[in-house]
Amino acid sequence: MTKPIHILNGPNLNLLGTREPEIYGSMTLADIEFACEAHARQIGATTVFRQSNHEGQLIDWLHDANVNASAVVFNPGAFTHTSVALHDAVRAIEPPVIEVHLSQTAAREPFRHHSYIASAARGSITGLGLDSYLLGIEAAVRCVAKQ
Ligand code: DQA
Repeated sequence: MTKPIHILNGPNLNLLGTREPEIYGSMTLADIEFACEAHARQIGATTVFRQSNHEGQLIDWLHDANVNASAVVFNPGAFTHTSVALHDAVRAIEPPVIEVHLSQTAAREPFRHHSYIASAARGSITGLGLDSYLLGIEAAVRCVAKQ
C-alpha cells in the first residue's frame, strides 16, 4: 500500500480515558493511536490519525483522504446518528471507508441504533473496544488488496 490509512475520530473522542470509562474503557485516544500505528506497521501499512469535534473538519478530512489515503477507518462519534453531510462525504470519496465504534451502539439507547454512516461505508465494526479499530485497519488493508 503506497498511501496511508487515515483514521478519523469525531466529537468527544479526545476525552477517552476519563469519559464514561465503564462504556469506553480506560485507554486514551493517544493509547489507541499508538496501538493502531503498531498494528498497521505489523501488517505493512502506515496510518495518519486525526480527531476533531467539528463536523466540517471531518468532512474536509474525508475529502483530503480521497486524494491522500488508500482507505479510511472512521469513528464519527455522535455524528454517526445525526449527520447526512458525513454520509454524503463518505459516499463521495473513492477509498473504502470502514466505520468503527468502541461501544456496541445497537445495545445502547435507541437514538444510537441508527447510523447514517453504515449505509455509505464499506463495512462496520462495533462493540469491540480497541479491537474495533485494529480489525478496522485489517479490513481496510483487505479491501485495498482486493481493488
Ligand atoms: C461511539 C458511539 C457513539 O454513539 C457515541 O456518540 C460516541 C462514541 C463509539 O465509539 O462507541 O461518541 O462512536
